[in-house]
Amino acid sequence: MPNTKQIKIRRWFDRHLHIRDGEMMANVLPCTLDQRATGAIIMPNLMPDPITTIDRAVAYRDRIRALIPTSVDFSPVLTCYLTDHTTPDEVVEGYRVGAWGAVKLYMADQNGQGGTTGSAHGVRDLPGRYPVFEAMQRHGIPLLGHFEAVEREVDEFDREAVSLERDLGPLVQEFPELPIVAEHITDGRMADYVAEHGGPLWATVTAHHLMLNRNDLFWGGLAPINWCKPVLKRESHRARVAEYVFSGHHKFGAGTDSAPHPKHKKEACCGCAAGVFTASHAVELYATAFDRAGKLENLEAFLSVNGLQVYGVPVSGESMTLERRDRAVPEKVGEVAVFMGGQTISWTLL
Ligand code: NCD
Ligand code: ZN
Repeated sequence: MPNTKQIKIRRWFDRHLHIRDGEMMANVLPCTLDQRATGAIIMPNLMPDPITTIDRAVAYRDRIRALIPTSVDFSPVLTCYLTDHTTPDEVVEGYRVGAWGAVKLYMADQNGQGGTTGSAHGVRDLPGRYPVFEAMQRHGIPLLGHFEAVEREVDEFDREAVSLERDLGPLVQEFPELPIVAEHITDGRMADYVAEHGGPLWATVTAHHLMLNRNDLFWGGLAPINWCKPVLKRESHRARVAEYVFSGHHKFGAGTDSAPHPKHKKEACCGCAAGVFTASHAVELYATAFDRAGKLENLEAFLSVNGLQVYGVPVSGESMTLERRDRAVPEKVGEVAVFMGGQTISWTLL
């Protein structure tokens, strides 16, 4: 579709979204509503108190719903933050009462050092969680995993590959019927594994991981705006992941991992916050990436169809229209630093 001026596709669903809480949430949630998502998987890594209990999930859901205008049809699907103390009963009960629709796995090391923003309460002993996974498998509750090894001695660029071998592989073998989503994947080996696996295993991919490689962290000087966990990888890995995505492969779906941080925290002289904010132009970014690859015809499958059954989310009957028209990306949304701020992308959502 090289000269297509407009495309009409089904409304989409964000399979991985951080909206935080309070003022920050009031600032960023409207972005995802404006991008016409029918809903999103809402990440539970609130600080200092992540969504680890049914009560917290229900209260958080109510705060989210209070910000959605009645004229807007948007369904937040919350997630339970798995810790070393989460019980099988609580996970199942929270799913049964609709407090959450999935469980989120972050890993932390023995000192409680998390591998990413807000992960310090995460799991240290993965095999110790097997009774929880066994209950989830029985009830068909999806596990959404941030698969990165967190130990300091692991090379930063190998964290996903090490976690694939050590964590995800054994998990899949032990629980062949457990629905698992490997989130925001970046490594070609992970992409091959997901694509070739015959069981209930899917992956999400962000717009920034499709568009950039690790040079974009360093070119012209260190660029913390592009600093995200997992870190951007070398071009051959980006290309491998992107090949599956652009082909419309049914196991790969859009999860923005849009993660708002105030500009001064992303640009701190030390300890820059990990997380890239794309919610304000997510659909346009994905469209621009697919267009550059000459694969616009597969955008709809990726954004609006692939893997939604995992979360029990229907494919939307409504549509949205994108036009080939330049759009300037704002530098900031409130205080939040925006990915590609100040640059121009080539698609606009009408
Ligand atoms: C996310 C955040 O800021 O909450 N950061 C990130 O680098 N991706 C957490 C996460 O999804 O890992
Ligand atoms: Zn995330």
